[in-house]
Order: sequence, then structure tokens, then C-alpha cells
Amino acid sequence: MSATSSPQQARLTISSIARLYADGERIAMLTAYDYPTARILDDAGIPMLLVGDSLGQVILGYDSTVRVTMAEMLHHTKAVVRGTKRALVVADMPFLSYGVTPEASLENAGLLMSEGGAGAVKLEGGERSARTIETIVRAGIPVMGHIGLTPQSIHQLGGHRVQGKTRDAGRQLLADALAVQQAGAFAMVLELVPEQLAAAITERLHVPTIGIGAGAGCSGQVQVVTDLLGLSADFTPKHARHYTELYSIIRTAAEAYRTDVIVGSFPGPAESSRMDKATLDEILGQTAMDRPEMVESSRGIPLDRDL
Ligand code: KIV
Repeated sequence: MSATSSPQQARLTISSIARLYADGERIAMLTAYDYPTARILDDAGIPMLLVGDSLGQVILGYDSTVRVTMAEMLHHTKAVVRGTKRALVVADMPFLSYGVTPEASLENAGLLMSEGGAGAVKLEGGERSARTIETIVRAGIPVMGHIGLTPQSIHQLGGHRVQGKTRDAGRQLLADALAVQQAGAFAMVLELVPEQLAAAITERLHVPTIGIGAGAGCSGQVQVVTDLLGLSADFTPKHARHYTELYSIIRTAAEAYRTDVIVGSFPGPAESSRMDKATLDEILGQTAMDRPEMVESSRGIPLDRDL
């Protein structure tokens, strides 16, 4: 039986992910930010869910991940954990919640686990983050690394560009991967890396690589769930594939609802409830003769005074 097909609903751990990797099974990871979506993804058997700080752009409408706070990450991590029974939930450490002092890094990672309920945390950076990863892992908190394009450094990187394309940048990326592994990370995201380099890095590691825009040679893939579902009206990154078109599905449903409300066909009898007529008479202080249908049917019948 594979690590993801147990009839027991025991929550997966980093050991389950290590087993998938050892079995050579590619690992499908998605982001999740809320309870209902997390439930669906968990029911679909996605073994690892990332409460990514992409939350900032795709859910909260910020212009970058840099504005996402610990409070926001905790709020959404809790919702995703409540929505899942099986998936390993990995919570992103937001900008400057790590890497400033070891104490603060540890405290924030600890909060995402103890208060948020996550099973692991993710943080960005290669060699520069190795000591932080080591500190957190030593405290017993599983860490996923993230190298290549690291969105929290977007102002330094100068845009969403493929990383590691020159000799020096490629060598640095390989050094980063080895440093993250050496520091104790159980897996690492490779974002926007040429597929040949990502495959070569994957071959040289003994922990799984989870690619996004890094080709098929990684140990697994992660996608931003709103890209997968076609939920955005405008931008879809080159590396993403729409598996459905939720934007137009939701829009069509909302337009149909709006029309039904305007013409009065929603709610109908099926969506309404009725009560005992005599009780209603009592509430309104009226008799059966005062009911709208009686008043209506008596219209046209001559009254005594008219005779
Ligand atoms: O925040 C996020 O969604 C991520 C993925 C792009 C890996 O870090």
C-alpha cells in the first residue's frame, strides 16, 4: 500500500513524504488558503498542501508577498488545517518572520506549528538561510526550503525571471540546494529554474525537490491552486495549466442568480418554507377572512351596502 492510499485517515507527516520519494512516486502539492478548498483538495488525495504567502496576491489582493503578516498566515493556516484530515499542511513563513534573529525565526516557526496547526514550515533562501533552517530543524520543526525565484526577494531579483541561467547563477543554485539539504530541510521548492538544471539538482540530492516552473525532472510539483482552477480573470503564469475555468463558471452562475432575483424566480417553492396559517393569523392579529387570498377572492363580490 502506498503512503497516500491508506484507508486510515491518519495525517501524513514528513516521513510519509520521504516514503513517497523513496518509492519513486512523484509528489503532487497544491497551495490552499481556506477551509472549503482545503477539504476538496484533501478529499482529492493531494498529500501536501502549502499555505503559501502567495495568499497575499491571490486571496488578499496585495501586490506582492512582502505585505503578508504572521497574523494572516496563522489565520489561513488554521482554516486549512481544519479543512484537512490527511494532508501534510506546510505553512509559509512570511517576509522577515525569519532570518533576522534565530530567536524570532524559531518563535514564528513555532507559532505556525502550535497555534496554526501546521505540520511543517517553508522558508525562502539557499546558503543565506541555511543557519535559520538548522536552528528551526534542531528544535524539532520540519522545514521545507525554497530556492530559485524567491518571491520575498522580488525587489532584489528585479522581477519574476527564470533563475540560474548563467554559469555563476547555476552554480550558486546548486550550492544553495546542497546547503538547504545539509541544513536539514526535508524537501525544497525549486521555483522558475531551467528544467535541465532542476533535474540535475534533483539527481544530486537525497531529499525531494518540488518544482514550480522547473520542469518535469523534479521529485514533485506544486502549483498555486487558483491558477490550476482558472480562477483569475487576467494573468496565468507560463508554468501553470488550467484544469478548469472557475472564473467563467462562477461568473455565469452569479449572472444567472442575479437575473433570477430580478425576475422573482428565486427563491421558488423548493427554496422556501411555509408555516401553519392559523398561527400566522394569531401573529398578525387577524382572522381567516383577512388572509390575502380571501381578500383577493372576495373582490368583485358585492357587499351588503351595495345591494
Ligand atoms: O507562496 C507560494 O504559493 C509558494 C509557491 C509558489 C511555491 O511559495
